[in-house]
Amino acid sequence: MIGSLDLGLEGKVAIVAGGGAAGDGIGNGRAASILLAEAGAKVLVVDRDEALAARTVEMIAERGGEARAMAANLTNSAECKGVVDAAIAAWGRLDVLDNNIGIGSKLSVVDETEEHWDRVMEINLKPMFLMSKHAIPAMVASGDGGSIVNISSISATRPKGLTVYSTSKGAVLSLSQAMAVDHGAEGVRVNCILPGPVYTPMVYSPGMGAVQRQQRQNASLVQIEGEGWDIGKAVVYLSSNWARYVTGHLMVVDGGCSLSAKPRG
Ligand SMILES: NC(=O)c1ccc[n+]([C@@H]2O[C@H](COP(=O)([O-])OP(=O)(O)OC[C@H]3O[C@@H](n4cnc5c(N)ncnc54)[C@H](O)[C@@H]3O)[C@@H](O)[C@H]2O)c1
Repeated sequence: MIGSLDLGLEGKVAIVAGGGAAGDGIGNGRAASILLAEAGAKVLVVDRDEALAARTVEMIAERGGEARAMAANLTNSAECKGVVDAAIAAWGRLDVLDNNIGIGSKLSVVDETEEHWDRVMEINLKPMFLMSKHAIPAMVASGDGGSIVNISSISATRPKGLTVYSTSKGAVLSLSQAMAVDHGAEGVRVNCILPGPVYTPMVYSPGMGAVQRQQRQNASLVQIEGEGWDIGKAVVYLSSNWARYVTGHLMVVDGGCSLSAKPRG
C-alpha cells in the first residue's frame, strides 16, 4: 500500500561505534547514526571524544529522533561491555551494531614503523571484535536476532599505498564473513561495507585541496563525490528487515571507483 514501506527499525536499538565527527561534518558514523534514528531506531552514539558524539546526538534531536552520547575507548573489553550494558539500561534491548571505527596509514612495509602497525591493527580490528563479543549475546537475548555492519574499505581489495590500513581492512572482510557463519543460526546477520573515497572530516581535516577532491570525484564512474550519507544509507539498508536474507555480504559503495584505474589522490 502507498506510504506503507517499513524498514522494521521503529523501536529498535542501535549502537554506532565511532558515531562522532569533527565540527558539523558528516562522517560515515554520524550519517549512519542520524539515518538509523530517522528510520525509528534509538541510537547510542559512542566515540572516544564525547563532544563529537554529543554533537551527533544534538543533530538527531533536531530531527526529532532519540539518541544518547557516550565516550569509550573501544579497544578495551570492559568499556565495550559497558557500552552494551548502557544501551540495555537505556532502552532494554539491542538490535543493531555499526562498527565504524577506523584510522588510516600511508606507508609501505619498508617505511612503516612497528608502533604504527600495532596501533592501526589494534584500532581497526579490536573494537570490532570486542563490541561484537559483547553485543551478540545481548542481541540474541533481545529476541529478534540482530544486525552487525562492519566498515572496511575498497583499500582491502585495491591497495593503494596504505599498506597497514589495507591489511587491517582486508581482515575486516574475513572477520565479517566468519561472524556471519558463526552467528547466523542465532538470527544475527553480519555484513560488511567497503566504502570508496568519502568526503568526511577524518579525511579532509588534515587538509585536502580542490585538485585532490576533484581527482577523487573523477575516480568514480558516475563522477560524483562520495558522502557519509552514502555509507549511512547502506548501513540502514543492511540493518533493516529489507536485508533479512542478506548476511556475510561484502557491499562495495564507491561509485564504481574500484572498477576504474583513475587516480583518486
Ligand atoms: N572517509 C573515507 O574516505 C573512507 C573510505 C573507506 C573507508 N572508510 C572507513 O569508514 C570509517 C569511518 O571513517 P570516516 O572517515 O567516516 O570517519 P568518521 O568521520 O566517521 O570518524 C570516525 C570517528 O571515530 C572516532 N574514533 C576513532 N578511533 C576511535 C576509538 N579508538 N574509539 C572510539 N572512537 C574512535 C573518531 O573520534 C571519529 O569521531 C572508518 O572505518 C574508515 O576506515 C572511510
